[in-house]
Amino acid sequence: MNQRDVLRKEKAYKAIEKYEDVVSNDPFRMHYHIMPPVGLLNDPNGFIYYKGTYHLFYQWNPFGTEHTTKFWGHVTSQDLVNWQAQPIALAPSDWFDKDGCYSGSAIEVDGKLVIFYTGNVRDENGNRETYQCMAVSTDGVYFEKKGPIATLPAGYTPHFRDPKVWKYQDHWYMIVGAQTVNKEGTVVLFSSTDLEKWAFLGGIAGANLNGLGKFGYMWECPDLFYLDGKEVLLVSPQGLDPNGDEFNNIYQSGYFVGALDVKQPSYTHGRFHELDRGFDFYAPQTSEDSKGRRLLVGWMGIPEENEADHPTISHNWIHAMTLPRELELVKGKLYQLPVEELKTLRGKEVYYADVLLNTTEPLELDQVNGTVIELLIDVVDNESDIFCIEIGEKSKIVFDASKERLTFQRQQFKQSKQEERRCHLKNINKIQLFRDVSSIEIFVNEGEAVFSSRIFDNPTDGSIRFFASAETKINVHKWSIKRAT
Ligand code: FRU
Repeated sequence: MNQRDVLRKEKAYKAIEKYEDVVSNDPFRMHYHIMPPVGLLNDPNGFIYYKGTYHLFYQWNPFGTEHTTKFWGHVTSQDLVNWQAQPIALAPSDWFDKDGCYSGSAIEVDGKLVIFYTGNVRDENGNRETYQCMAVSTDGVYFEKKGPIATLPAGYTPHFRDPKVWKYQDHWYMIVGAQTVNKEGTVVLFSSTDLEKWAFLGGIAGANLNGLGKFGYMWECPDLFYLDGKEVLLVSPQGLDPNGDEFNNIYQSGYFVGALDVKQPSYTHGRFHELDRGFDFYAPQTSEDSKGRRLLVGWMGIPEENEADHPTISHNWIHAMTLPRELELVKGKLYQLPVEELKTLRGKEVYYADVLLNTTEPLELDQVNGTVIELLIDVVDNESDIFCIEIGEKSKIVFDASKERLTFQRQQFKQSKQEERRCHLKNINKIQLFRDVSSIEIFVNEGEAVFSSRIFDNPTDGSIRFFASAETKINVHKWSIKRAT
């Protein structure tokens, strides 16, 4: 570790200490989500189950709530629910990462935890340089940087980052998010036998590749994994135009289902699906655990999207992770459900069976309320066109049967106007909803659709109201949720 590394980490720890009270006194602070201790959190990085413990790293600016310098923060867990802060994993302190230890991934090799990340460097004229770097730990806590292991191939701009590494047969493979010199977003593949020398194999998916046509100017944070006989590619493309109910956030996050041939290399795939239909979701990363589950964590935020309007900035922090989800492939589509360990956070339960909804005015159920809660609603009998759940002052879920559309509405952060996101859905039979003060995550029909959003209207209004336009019967479970550590 160089002297600069020691100093930068010390300065970051001091920032945590200095703002601890201001941060924890924020009425919008959450109870069971991963948040930065101070400053800005963005992408999940290096997600791995290593030696009996879940490790999650995150993009972190300890010194402010903007995207300037980036460290790797680190938390660990035994159960994906309670997370312990660990010492800072990476600080931007070397010539190859001096302006940011950008996103990347982790693998286990011979008992060591090895991480790959992008070193972001700006030269004296502000031009971007990119280095794919490696760092190694023998205890999962302290990392030794090994420096760059792959350079920028011809044909791509320095927007080339976010390595994800995996092993297949006797080779290591690495995909990287990239931009071609023609300003097309793409994902490229490298291979290696020793993790130190990497051969560039070429592009495997991207705009104007595999019949995709125009599809954004940059693809960030790729992830590729095997699930149920298919290879699923996650990417976060930038530069897609809104298309009806799709692509309404500034940047998207989604997936292709396909087949990868590493020899060619080639990836044949179907259409792009958005992963999450809410306002705040980006740059997810997955990992397989010892139970064989494919787990996903996303950033519950999006770069440049309303960031300056988050009220938490006045308390010196911004953003959080989503709850961890388990992925399944159902008829060619990814289904996402909150991990079952979250049930351990359930406190007191309230249950109502066969509630017949009024059609004249919204119905409130005694004790079905709260700002830190889980709700599970079975729609047992739905005769209505419109079925609606209002949460707090300004958030609303509306299912419109005649339009086959689910809508989530919230209040804009800085104005009193409402805004909404929508998705196509044939019917609705189950809604699982997690509210954590300033966030709402909605899992519909056992994971068929997910909406994740932050809400910043009234952090103390936990009221919930149900409404239907014609006779509708629901069962309602409500749990208060305990504070996670
Ligand atoms: C995605 C991203 C990555 C980059 C990181 C920097 O949100 O822009 O492409 O590595 O954030 O923090």
